Amino acid sequence: MTVSSAPGKVYLFGEHAVVYGEPAIPCAIERRATVAVDERDDDHIRVEARDLSLDGFTVEYAGDTDGRPDVDAPTELVDAAMGYVDAAVEQARDAADAPAAGFDIRVESEIPLGAGLGSSAAVVVAGIDAATRELGAALAPEAVADRAYRAEYAVQDGQASRADTFCSAMGGAVRVEGDDCGRIATPNLPFVVGFDGSAGDTGELVAGVRSLREEYGFAADTVGNIGDIVRHGESLLADADPGAEPTPDLLAELGRLMDFDHGLLEALGVSSRTLDSMVWAAREAGAHGAKLTGAGGGGCIVALDRTPETRTALRYTAECRDAFRAELDREGVRTED
Ligand code: MEV
Repeated sequence: MTVSSAPGKVYLFGEHAVVYGEPAIPCAIERRATVAVDERDDDHIRVEARDLSLDGFTVEYAGDTDGRPDVDAPTELVDAAMGYVDAAVEQARDAADAPAAGFDIRVESEIPLGAGLGSSAAVVVAGIDAATRELGAALAPEAVADRAYRAEYAVQDGQASRADTFCSAMGGAVRVEGDDCGRIATPNLPFVVGFDGSAGDTGELVAGVRSLREEYGFAADTVGNIGDIVRHGESLLADADPGAEPTPDLLAELGRLMDFDHGLLEALGVSSRTLDSMVWAAREAGAHGAKLTGAGGGGCIVALDRTPETRTALRYTAECRDAFRAELDREGVRTED
């Protein structure tokens, strides 16, 4: 059996705009998806999943998702999870030149599914890493990132950037602009996450922004303005002391940019009442800034704060199911014992 894990992420800035070639800065956080893979004697795939914001499920099927038996979990969540697992298996088979390889796969995740914390990217990255190593065809993290991007791109009908998968594979804070991806040095950013208990549909949300841009050409300016926020934010980070505590001025300015970014995401139609409530609860509790993270529609917000007040305020907010500190995880995909 081969076991790998990979981290989830929050977006400091730039989700959605990154799909149109603007830069984005996602940051890996210390919440992981772990995938255990055992090669089988046949070409079947058996998947057992736990903690994916549902009660867990087990499915077994041959080759692809067709003919999958009924399982005791919400169909759309199982379909979403299985789509990503299938795509990861396809990439691993291709990388190892083993088109008929079958696997028993066990997925465990501390990252709620579809909530903006990069759960699918983490599952795909850890799955490709574990399955290729199980087949004796281990890949470097950069190659895992590339394969994982191709898997997400296929599942999301060509509407995916490299941001989530590169960040999960490499860890730390990263900058992604088109195919240009790299790690960046940052101070210790104090993230707090609020989760409303729901999930958004990334494909649908990305498609919504696309049709807004098609209908109103000037929506492209909103996307471009998000890119400007990212460029300004990264110049602030470049001037800061890597690995050190951020200065109050830096926190204040990054927070303002996060607020600005959230406003533009809201204008693009990807926020929700619950996300906005949590964003305002965090701001009113004294966070330097707060925004939705990931595709939106429901799920998580990220706030910048080094005190416990924001977390406490979020926990007392009716729309918030869970609130937690999220440390930057400087390690990407890794082998587990
Ligand atoms: C989803 O976590 C982030 C989006 O920008 C989509 C993508 O980059 O693939 C909305």
